[in-house]
Amino acid sequence: MPAKNTEGRIITVGVTGASGAAYAQSLLRLLDADRRAARVFLVATEAGLRLLSTELGVVAADGKKLPSLLTGTPAKKIEYLPNKDIGASIASGSASVDAMAVIPCSAGALGSIAAGTSGDLLTRAADVCLKERRPLVLCLRETPLNRIHLENMLRVHDAGATVMPAMPAFYYEPASIDAMVEQFCYRVLAQLGLPQQKQYRWKGGRS
Ligand SMILES: Cc1cc2nc3c(=O)[nH]c(=O)nc-3n(C[C@H](O)[C@H](O)[C@H](O)COP(=O)(O)O)c2cc1C
Repeated sequence: MPAKNTEGRIITVGVTGASGAAYAQSLLRLLDADRRAARVFLVATEAGLRLLSTELGVVAADGKKLPSLLTGTPAKKIEYLPNKDIGASIASGSASVDAMAVIPCSAGALGSIAAGTSGDLLTRAADVCLKERRPLVLCLRETPLNRIHLENMLRVHDAGATVMPAMPAFYYEPASIDAMVEQFCYRVLAQLGLPQQKQYRWKGGRS
């Protein structure tokens, strides 16, 4: 495991065209507010941008405005990187990135990452995480799953990724969809090395 950035964690967030844009929004808000996160790179596929528009009504003609539109505040530490820019820093293993989440992760992006094709910045950045042995969390959102999806999940798992399907839990009795989404994101952050105090912890129960 490579050394962590001492001045704060540097995290890449990839957004693809699976349903669940709210997960990306919630994760970005939490990262922007977390003092332990120094820098966040945001990269979205074309389909990802479409889903941000369809599900959240967030449309940014200028990608640089996307982080603030998503967080609802002037996002200070989130930098948007165009997916076509395969020369961006995160495309190289020499860049200081600690971990990456693809949230939500489409079956298509899962397939590209499993195949190692690295045809765009998002899948290249994910590939870099795998080769550099950095945490890569893939929040797959698809159902039902076919054999190709299942095989690809096993493939990326074996290559070092954490497959964390966007499957929220119910045992803590979430009061709202927002609360459910946020609790899921707390668990993603824990996987990225940023555990959250507000994460619900099961303390045992009676049948
Ligand atoms: C409204 C909408 C919802 C979608 N939901 C999903 C989904 O939940 N999971 C998935 O794998 N693909 C979903 N898709 C299909 C993907 O967007 C499509 O396969 C796309 O090519 C993925 O591209 P990307 O991996 O580059 O983002 C959805 C598409 C639309 C328009």
